[in-house]
Amino acid sequence: MTEAVTFVILGASGDLTERLLLPGLGTLLATDPEREVTLIGVGRSEKPEEAWRDLVRESLGRGECGRTQLERVAESSRWVQVSAYDGDDVAELLGDLDGPVVLYFALPPTATEAAVKALRGRDLPKDLRLALDKPFGHDYASAQELNRLITDVVGEEQVFRVDHFLGRNTVLNLLGVRFANHIFEPVWRADHIDSIEIIADEVLALEGRAGYYDGAGALIDMLQSHLLLVLSLVALSEPARLDANELHNLMLHTLRSTHVFGDDPVANSRRGRYTAGTVEGKEIGAYVDEDGVDPDRGTETLAEVVLEIRNQRWAGVPITLRSGKALDGKRSHVVVRFKEVRHLPEGLDGKTSANVLTIGMTPHRIGLDVSTNTGNDRLSLSTTHLDADLGDSDLRPYGEILGRIFDNDHLLSVRGDVAEECWRVLEPVICAWREGKVPLRDYPAGSDPDHC
Ligand SMILES: NC(=O)c1ccc[n+]([C@@H]2O[C@H](COP(=O)([O-])OP(=O)(O)OC[C@H]3O[C@@H](n4cnc5c(N)ncnc54)[C@H](OP(=O)(O)O)[C@@H]3O)[C@@H](O)[C@H]2O)c1
Repeated sequence: MTEAVTFVILGASGDLTERLLLPGLGTLLATDPEREVTLIGVGRSEKPEEAWRDLVRESLGRGECGRTQLERVAESSRWVQVSAYDGDDVAELLGDLDGPVVLYFALPPTATEAAVKALRGRDLPKDLRLALDKPFGHDYASAQELNRLITDVVGEEQVFRVDHFLGRNTVLNLLGVRFANHIFEPVWRADHIDSIEIIADEVLALEGRAGYYDGAGALIDMLQSHLLLVLSLVALSEPARLDANELHNLMLHTLRSTHVFGDDPVANSRRGRYTAGTVEGKEIGAYVDEDGVDPDRGTETLAEVVLEIRNQRWAGVPITLRSGKALDGKRSHVVVRFKEVRHLPEGLDGKTSANVLTIGMTPHRIGLDVSTNTGNDRLSLSTTHLDADLGDSDLRPYGEILGRIFDNDHLLSVRGDVAEECWRVLEPVICAWREGKVPLRDYPAGSDPDHC
């Protein structure tokens, strides 16, 4: 039996709640019908109870939640009009609830910081858990400051930092592929691996998200959190067991050895911004003409950084992280390129190619390029691509993550020091870009990211 929890969402009238949190919760309830969750939405404005319950019904339903559970959660759910900035009111609300209570900050980052600050020195329930969505700070110093602030309010063991990439079964699959396959783990090192790419390219443009995105850009929105966490799992040393402490220690250990390749952010990073173009047959306007964008900010919509991990296992292997908007295709995968064989027997000819392992994050696939003898000429080589569809999980990433938080399991949350280290790794790039040392290049929407 799982423990009954009260789930309080601050900023519940926002996009995250409607589009991701509640549908994710819907999938959790669908896969675990016995789970008991009392839901409370909190916001500054008044909302009729029925309007809130209708929103809950509709959003949970998008997560394929069954009718009975959906009605149970919606009917017991309520809306509370309180400002997240008013620490007394929030503490009073929390004090009246049955525990354990999960308090989710579904607020813009600056509001989250102010709301956490407002809870300092208040009398809070002992079994309170705080859940905060990324970004965790806006640079290394502010991430440290935010962590100090949070741990002034509750202990780190009560904090769950949420990066939904860690809730993707495809990301966790990296651990299975690596550690449960004899053909991979022994060669998972610089002696055998030539390079690694971790890519999250989108065909989507801004889609009305200027309010958040124009202040962040691709580097901070995607590389600084999601892709660096994926990198820490790709390059992880072998855990003795998969518990939160062990996993977070090893992620931190990997990140602490991670640096911009050659300590040269100018040569090893690039940034771009889309101009008008065509993506999948659809006309897309220039980023600078989108509503709410300030062109003078110079926000990038494509970011690429090459990193290296300075340890025995990985030194010298370039690891490229890249993400961009309005590109010619959606790609969300990890590509591991192995080295060419050292020698080919005489008489075996044709085109050899290095083995390439592709682990798809969306869709969930795995592919491997191998050199084989094919066709009529038995001594002639070519590349064969093996590919398997691993199927999607019934649980959406936010469902997976909420389930862990409700169970008080930190495995898929981001520990404070890991969050800080992600900022530390990219700090030289952020500085170089801020100082204008890396040009912001235009690329027409629909471009191939390798040639723009
Ligand atoms: N949306 C996404 O796709 C997404 C994805 C990943 C992570 N996140 C993260 O999730 C968090 C919430 O994102 P969101 O898109 O839901 O944000 P949002 O829609 O901009 O804001 C959420 C709610 O916060 C309250 N709010 C807004 N500005 C405020 C202010 N200055 N002071 C106090 N309250 C304020 C509003 O509720 P009331 O007016 O009712 O109080 C608003 O409905 C952010 O940290 C974001 O980075 C979002």
